[in-house]
Amino acid sequence: MPKVRLHVSERIVEKEVKDEANLVVMAALGQFPELKYGCGIGRCTKCKSKIIEGGEHLNPPNWKEKKLLGDELEEGYRLTCQLTITSNVELTQDEQLANRELSGEEAKM
Ligand code: FES
Repeated sequence: MPKVRLHVSERIVEKEVKDEANLVVMAALGQFPELKYGCGIGRCTKCKSKIIEGGEHLNPPNWKEKKLLGDELEEGYRLTCQLTITSNVELTQDEQLANRELSGEEAKM
């Protein structure tokens, strides 16, 4: 099962999730309460996360992400509600952390 490591509000939350999990659906079901989200359908951007590791295993950005994130896609941001988790991934919704350049070691703290 894929492992998800989420940095949020100066904390790190780690969970194993089912293959092909959608983290926003899990959050709505109370299984990932730390995750920030809103509409769940790719409209509000409240679920925006910066991918730290594992982005290469995620589904490619869809038209909603391209429209709403634009250049931020190049910076590693994704809409979590549009992601299907099939492999380990590390992401952050901590703005301060997302705005810093992370070294590999720092990202693992
Ligand atoms: S929850 Fe609104 S865009 Fe993802």
